[in-house]
Amino acid sequence: MQDLMQKIVSFAKRRGFIFQSSEIYGGFGSCYDFGPLGVELKNNIKKSWWKEMVERRKDIVGLDSSILMSPKVWAASGHLTAGFADELVECKKCHHRFRKDHIKGKCPDCGGELTKPKKFNLMMKTFVGPVEDEASTTYLRAETCQGIYLNFKNVMQTMRLKVPFGIAQIGKAFRNEITPKDFIYRTREFEQMEMQWFCSPKETDKFFDYWLKQRLSWYYNLGINKKNIKTYEVPKKELAHYAKRAVDILYKFPFGWQEIEGIHNRGDWDLSNHAKHSGVDLKYEDYFPHIIETSVGADRSLLAFLVDAYQEVKGGRTKTTESAKEVEVFLKLAKSLAPIKAAVLPLVKNKPNIVKKSKQVFEILKGQFMTQYDETGSIGRRYRRQDEIGTPFCITIDFDTLKDNTVTLRHRDTMKQERVKIEELALCLRKQL
Ligand code: GAP
Repeated sequence: MQDLMQKIVSFAKRRGFIFQSSEIYGGFGSCYDFGPLGVELKNNIKKSWWKEMVERRKDIVGLDSSILMSPKVWAASGHLTAGFADELVECKKCHHRFRKDHIKGKCPDCGGELTKPKKFNLMMKTFVGPVEDEASTTYLRAETCQGIYLNFKNVMQTMRLKVPFGIAQIGKAFRNEITPKDFIYRTREFEQMEMQWFCSPKETDKFFDYWLKQRLSWYYNLGINKKNIKTYEVPKKELAHYAKRAVDILYKFPFGWQEIEGIHNRGDWDLSNHAKHSGVDLKYEDYFPHIIETSVGADRSLLAFLVDAYQEVKGGRTKTTESAKEVEVFLKLAKSLAPIKAAVLPLVKNKPNIVKKSKQVFEILKGQFMTQYDETGSIGRRYRRQDEIGTPFCITIDFDTLKDNTVTLRHRDTMKQERVKIEELALCLRKQL
């Protein structure tokens, strides 16, 4: 199964989805850059989440708070104390370091003996202003939700909201992970999509179940294979310092079942601690609202969608003699997530009329859908290149186009082809997307 992971890593690089950060300098551990197709896929995931969590709701609003905040925030939230630390062990022989809960017994690299575990705080320190001292120290945020708690009153008052309601945010978070691993699964810089639902303490159980269901259906509606998703009730002794209850949504990665999202009952931990430390009353009526949180990594869910969509077809999908010896990659992404929605392909590139017509079709589509123009290689090879990156529609301009102004519309999943009039093409695509 690790073999599959290696294939996906090299596919992601070969097709412009994900590159190692600082590659020309030998790479920078655990940081990745999203290439032209990766940024489209990630943006589509974020758009889908925002649509579901903000646009379609009358009881949730959005926020974009700053990454740098007063260091007092992290003292109040419990992140500077043992609560937000992993246990680290070091090999006495090779000096490699590991998270204690990731290994058993001896050093997995050389079999050496391990030191006793020590607590290692995950906050990333930085300095603001020209002097690097204690007074100028602050931290890159380790979770986006803290900015939401700080703005609870601002948002409630300006938007005239009443509990229950939610605030959603997408943004970068940073953690000094001891053992970042598994490609973009665990990194030190990542993006979170978090929603905090403020409700009465009496309604937390009801809303916890509601939000867990809602979040599961988001993955199912985006076509993720139900067999590859399951939930895990986090045992009391493993709960994060702020949580009263947590259920993780797990995905079956090639490296095993792993968390992609957490649904947390944070009780009144956050609002009551921020009220205590700031001296500002953060109560609603006469109580602190309790919080149900849904928290998912944009990068981590992207990896799940990529793994889920990745298929290899031996002998090719069309089973032509040309493809008999090949293994074709086919990315069966939900249409809404596909980085490129349509590809415009002139049947031949040496007929000026066909090329001219193809460029006109490209001009019509390009501002409306993410569209690619490709004229190099045989038409079969170009279809395969688009299947490989999950493009739902290929549009071929041929000799008949010059006569009747119709094009061939090829559907990725069925490989069926139909003729569509150029003037109806954009509407036809819009309906199917
Ligand atoms: N505000 C709650 C919170 O941050 P978490 O379980 O620590 O909870 C939530 O993180 C989600 O953020 C995870 O399910 C995962 O998708 C993502 N995430 C956390 N740490 C990550 C890391 N080091 N690399 C990539 N994604 C990460």
